[in-house]
Amino acid sequence: MVRPFLIEEYRPQFHFTPEKNWMNDPNGLVYHDGIYHIFYQYNPNGTKWGYISWGHAISTDLVHWKHLPIALECDVDSNGNIMEMFFSGSVAVDVNNTSGFAIPIGRSQKGKEMFSQPMVAIYTSHYPTAHTTFNGQVIREGQQSQSIAFSNDNGLTWTKYNGNPVIPSPPPEYADQYNQFRDPFVFWHSTSSKWIMVATLALKQTLLIYSSDNLKDWTLASQFGPYNARFGEWECPSLFPLYVDGNSASEKWVMLIGINPGGVVAGSGTQSIIGSFDGKTFVADPSDVYDPTKVPADSTVFQDFESTSSTFEELGWTATGDFVSRGPRKASTVNAGKIKGYLGNGIMTTYLSGGTGTGTIASPKFTITEEYISFLVAGGYYPYNPVTAGTPEDHQVSMNLVVDGKVVHSQTGTNTENLVWRSWNVAGWVGKEAYLIVTDVNPGPSAHLHIDEIVFSNSPKDEANWNDFGPDYYAAATYNGLPNSERTVVGWMNNWAYANDIPTSTWRSAMSIPRTLALKTINNKVRLVQQPVSSVSTLYTAALCSHNFSVLQCGETEVNVPAPYNARMRLALKFARGTGTKFGVCLRSNAANTQETVIGYDFLGQNVFVDRFKSGNNSFVDSERNAFPGCFIATMATKPTDLIELNILLDWSSVEVFDGQGQIAITCQIFPLDDSAKVKLFSEGGSTKSVSVAINGIDSVWT
Ligand code: FRU
Repeated sequence: MVRPFLIEEYRPQFHFTPEKNWMNDPNGLVYHDGIYHIFYQYNPNGTKWGYISWGHAISTDLVHWKHLPIALECDVDSNGNIMEMFFSGSVAVDVNNTSGFAIPIGRSQKGKEMFSQPMVAIYTSHYPTAHTTFNGQVIREGQQSQSIAFSNDNGLTWTKYNGNPVIPSPPPEYADQYNQFRDPFVFWHSTSSKWIMVATLALKQTLLIYSSDNLKDWTLASQFGPYNARFGEWECPSLFPLYVDGNSASEKWVMLIGINPGGVVAGSGTQSIIGSFDGKTFVADPSDVYDPTKVPADSTVFQDFESTSSTFEELGWTATGDFVSRGPRKASTVNAGKIKGYLGNGIMTTYLSGGTGTGTIASPKFTITEEYISFLVAGGYYPYNPVTAGTPEDHQVSMNLVVDGKVVHSQTGTNTENLVWRSWNVAGWVGKEAYLIVTDVNPGPSAHLHIDEIVFSNSPKDEANWNDFGPDYYAAATYNGLPNSERTVVGWMNNWAYANDIPTSTWRSAMSIPRTLALKTINNKVRLVQQPVSSVSTLYTAALCSHNFSVLQCGETEVNVPAPYNARMRLALKFARGTGTKFGVCLRSNAANTQETVIGYDFLGQNVFVDRFKSGNNSFVDSERNAFPGCFIATMATKPTDLIELNILLDWSSVEVFDGQGQIAITCQIFPLDDSAKVKLFSEGGSTKSVSVAINGIDSVWT
């Protein structure tokens, strides 16, 4: 039993959670007068999404929070009809009183009248019911409009502006998108002395950029999108400047965009695009835009599936089960033409009539000669699980790369019918013989995979800049009110694929650890990097243990971490490649090895991974659409001599993994049993060199 005292099962101890009830996106992040405010999407009436209001809490250090009363409460009429929900948005402090919302607060010593600095919340009014507002605006059922409210007591009480909504509808060319227009992010742009708003047309994967002098009257300035990850709803944008490598002479702008579904795993995900902003238009850097129709310049096409009149056997592939004597198909004829994103006409698919086909389709053997294998993939999320593969519990629908008889890379669908690029680093197997095998053992209607355009090259084919390669980082929002050289971001540590079902009670959902963002040049490319905010380290206990091994032998080495810190700790791992193939740590392991969360680095596949197949309770979602179990990878190419660094934050029901440079983050929820409390280092396939492990406990912020 690792629970230190009576706390609720799974309750995070150093991540923000509401005291009770449902929470989703962080909203209105603003730093003002030494206080960090967090508002958030909140249901005051239950543990599932609904009655959406804005909750509120404050902090002086981003780790200890004080809960405050609800800021903006869902409006319900006397018949119980919901009239207005308060969807996501932002808060700005109107220092110059451009809005006129300030109130007199007395006189200075010299007798000058002084005014408050109002906080202004800019949010989406979601109107489920058609009605006419008191100020005569005709509202349609389901309309989403942008509205404002102000507070002159530091966010404790709010007054809705009587001219709401301030942007009732999107521009005429998008008139039909009146119910998918939301999530305004507003900031003061000092160069143009204007307020800037970025809002989404969610279904169009388009951002609308507006400007204003007073937060009430808005003019459309430009549009942006769709780019990169673009199959799914675009939500919760954030736009902000940062200095490249800390150099104030070299400023770039970053657009953060939530996408759901269509995230890197399945369901919700967060991408960023770096570019420039002149007060009107955001222009993406060409190096940050990934054209999905182009393969890397040095590619060799292994199979493009254009031979739609051939069988797999005629193409030199082998098939079993329902796929014998079948072949590539015209994508437009598969699944009622729902498939998008293919190149040419043909694709490989395991979708037969009704999607019920099962069997395998395997490529001819080939020798790996280049460092990456890239391909387009779509379909249901049914990952390959090495533990259940080949057993009656095998549900996989995936394409696997097999070397020396072992699956070394695997990719399942992302729960959409839209083909997206994925790349595997195979540098570790150059010179080896390999084959690809698509395995679909699952007859369910959404359990099918589509594959197109398999290419070999020495550079990866990216779909997007993913801010986090885990499944549980969404709706990331950034703080207004910090200097231009600083940006702090907070994400919702959950995923719409299962958010309403996670096995917690009295509250549902936590926020990610707040993270400091920066722009850093890595391998000649400017990248958005992140690390936990420095104040998290104030929660660290004295070192619980530190271990150094010049050579860590193959196998498992248990590390003794005393309770309660075995459920909340920070691990700093440094290591270098030895004769082994993988190095890492198992957290929340039980004696029987039936539970563990495995985090590490794959020297051959060149990726950081988090495996939560056995992390604990992972069967709370319906079996047909269970997007929770999985192993999540982030490619990070290293040289054999590199000292690799991973920093891990473990809380009661989550892990967040960062590499030393901050280019990789993987965020995952886990729901282990209390008794799963062991910590084990492992080196697989041989030894790992220069291993150092430093572990600190993390104090609870609630005690
Ligand atoms: C993102 C989102 C937003 C919306 C809010 C509603 O998670 O769908 O687009 O404003 O949640 O709660």
